[in-house]
Amino acid sequence: MMKDYILKGNICYSQNLQTIRCVENGYVVCLNGKSAGVFDEIPEKYKNLAVKDFGDKLIIPGLVDMHVHAPQYSFRSIGMDMELLDWLEARAFPEEGKFSDVEYAKKAYGIFVDDLLKSATTRACIFASRHVEGTWVLMDLLEKSGLVSYVGKVNMDRNAPDYLKEENAEKSAEDTIRWIEGTAKHFQNTKPIITPRFIPSCTDPLMERLGEIQKEYNLPVQSHLSENLSEIELVKELCPTSKFYGDAYHQFGLFGGDVPTIMAHCVHPPKEEMEMMKEQGIFVAHCPQSNINVLSGIPPIRDFLDEGIRVGLGCDIAGGTVLSIFRAMIEAIQLSKLRWRLVDQSKRPLTVEEAFYLGTIGGGSFFGKVGSFEEGYELDAVVLDDTTLPYPQELTVAERLERMIYLSDERHVVGKFVRGKHLF
Ligand code: GUN
Ligand code: FE
Repeated sequence: MMKDYILKGNICYSQNLQTIRCVENGYVVCLNGKSAGVFDEIPEKYKNLAVKDFGDKLIIPGLVDMHVHAPQYSFRSIGMDMELLDWLEARAFPEEGKFSDVEYAKKAYGIFVDDLLKSATTRACIFASRHVEGTWVLMDLLEKSGLVSYVGKVNMDRNAPDYLKEENAEKSAEDTIRWIEGTAKHFQNTKPIITPRFIPSCTDPLMERLGEIQKEYNLPVQSHLSENLSEIELVKELCPTSKFYGDAYHQFGLFGGDVPTIMAHCVHPPKEEMEMMKEQGIFVAHCPQSNINVLSGIPPIRDFLDEGIRVGLGCDIAGGTVLSIFRAMIEAIQLSKLRWRLVDQSKRPLTVEEAFYLGTIGGGSFFGKVGSFEEGYELDAVVLDDTTLPYPQELTVAERLERMIYLSDERHVVGKFVRGKHLF
């Protein structure tokens, strides 16, 4: 059984979309990997537990990345001057093709996992490439890191170059089953997730097989939805019978309901699609930096929140160029301000409290009780040292957190705990 302990420092976490609770010189009690609550003083019954004292540093819940492409990490920031479909063809597919080589995968994924570990992210939902062995390499590295993740072997049997496209639906399904059976019980913290790349990449027979595989193995699903206008037009051509993009997943049982499902982007959802997202309990992975870089647009995040649709944040490497979920928080706020200015002044921009919630509990709830220090939540914590960003005035803990959201990078992350386990 895991040792119980107490974290001491300036504790900050979301209580709801509007409120970040900050407890100066407070304590988080960790019992068997879960929070037993946040306190001003150590309660009598916990007096004998060891205290890990982080002094004046900030302690926040680990951040959650709802959407990232691990094989794209190697070319992040190179060649960003294209729209989504051209960029996939020119940049993403050629790089992902290299992951048929296990040695290359080890090298590239090693860099990705090292950097993810150093970041403020403790949990992630990750796309690998379509290759079984390479995906296994990634899962192995992630498991060793101590981070918690869902990882998808990507399915793609059309509209890609021969070196990357899977031979046919049946071969793609066989590979998927081989990968699931090899990995589903093999790892503690690293679990498979069904990952059709997006509708333009998957034939109907493949989607049908993935629907069956999802049921048989009872796995969650992740994909892309209504990201970019030219992509949406292509889906209309490819799926003339579906009512809207999301319906093309729904008809194969791959759109929420009993199936925990993440859809990345959702930049241009028609009204019926938004209704179905809500009904089916879809999690939106909002990836603001990617929406700018590959010229997708500004998603209606305020409408999603008003409708009660669940939203988390993603970096979407290499559509996005940095792993930081703090950056995703800032860019979510900034994009929402542009939407207010340019599209709809009846919809308030996001606040820093809301963005912090999205990057912690918003995505964390896909993993269960994750993203907060309220009693009963799994204890994922990150320790932030802001002493290298000095300030002359007095600041509250809440203001210091706000500075960390806007200014910090991995150099400020000096401690990390995942499911109660101390990683560094
Ligand atoms: N849609 C299908 N594949 C991708 C991808 O790799 N990145 C992004 N941003 N969108 C996609
Ligand atoms: Fe993506």
